[in-house]
Amino acid sequence: MTKLRAAITGVQGYVPDYVLTNEELSRMVDTSDEWITSRTGIKERRILKGEGLGTSHMGTKAVQGLLEKTNTDPQEIDLIICATTTPDMVFPATANLIANEVGATKAFSYDIQAACSGFLYSIFTASQFIATGMYKKVIVVGADKMSSIIDYTDRSTCVIFGDGAGAVLLEGNEEGEGIHDAVLQSDGSGWVHLHQKAGGSRRPATMETVQNREHFVYQEGKHVFKNAVTNMGAAVLQVMKQNNLTAEAVDWLNPHQANRRIVDNTAKSMGLADGVDSEKVMMTIHKFGNTTSGTLPLNLWDYESRLKKGDKMILAAFGGGFTWGAVYLTWAYDGK
Ligand code: ACO
Repeated sequence: MTKLRAAITGVQGYVPDYVLTNEELSRMVDTSDEWITSRTGIKERRILKGEGLGTSHMGTKAVQGLLEKTNTDPQEIDLIICATTTPDMVFPATANLIANEVGATKAFSYDIQAACSGFLYSIFTASQFIATGMYKKVIVVGADKMSSIIDYTDRSTCVIFGDGAGAVLLEGNEEGEGIHDAVLQSDGSGWVHLHQKAGGSRRPATMETVQNREHFVYQEGKHVFKNAVTNMGAAVLQVMKQNNLTAEAVDWLNPHQANRRIVDNTAKSMGLADGVDSEKVMMTIHKFGNTTSGTLPLNLWDYESRLKKGDKMILAAFGGGFTWGAVYLTWAYDGK
């Protein structure tokens, strides 16, 4: 009997209309298009504007588009997992809000918080519910309104992040396609290098925390960069080894979009001599920046028309926590 696997059977993205360019940023902080482009590869990013609009707004748009595109009745959805670091509220879960908005009233729903690795952790978690035969249709949405936790006076972080969401539908596949394997890791000692200082239970919001600008991303860029390069590369190599894959055999690397130079290192360490310039490497950082949980599904959305049934893909991420890993899957349908 063929093994039941969870396969991605549809993908949809949503990015807000407002485009924040490097040129506009260079009027806000002491930076330049040249610095941002050469150090990160980012040219522009999207920002969600509008009173009262949070991450669920973008997640809902992505899921609604996914349901329409895949001709799926929201009542058929068993589970919605939302990967996010910028939930609309501390509670309830953003996934609950999205499920309500799209009419998925028979689904249960919850969030996974693993910073930039959130989508990676979430699709592997979701895949287990399908592979056991317990559920038939699961949606994973990665969504973040990073602009809500970015200090637009801090040039070392404000140039990197953008807002966006992407969603995938996972269903059972008995033809051999779908999610095959994963290497997922975390190291909580990394928290000191990448976190938000206030707003949680350890340091709730006060006048002082607001005045000290502690409700924003704090990042020691160089340290995070080094860890991202080492660990993403190692996770990709490990998952390749576990599945007897060579770089030639892999059709796509879908890497987290934090920095073009990190992706370049990851691609080279898996054996792609051209690094980030290889045609196998998905890149959307130039137009979306780092959307945290949104990057991997936004890559899928952007490249969907080029994907073919049976394509071998490795997804990889590194982020706050620290969290990191790689997932190996084979694509289940021809893109249109
Ligand atoms: N414009 C101009 N100069 C700048 C800017 C800017 N936007 N930002 C920093 N600089 C300056 C610094 O002040 C420093 O100047 P100095 O030498 O006079 O002190 C110099 O540039 C070098 O600074 P670094 O921080 O060492 O620059 P680096 O080359 O490391 O690039 C960056 C910074 C882009 C943040 C990089 O370190 C990086 O990409 N880090 C990893 C990000 C990441 O992967 N995060 C994980 C995911 S995020 C999540 O999980 C939420």
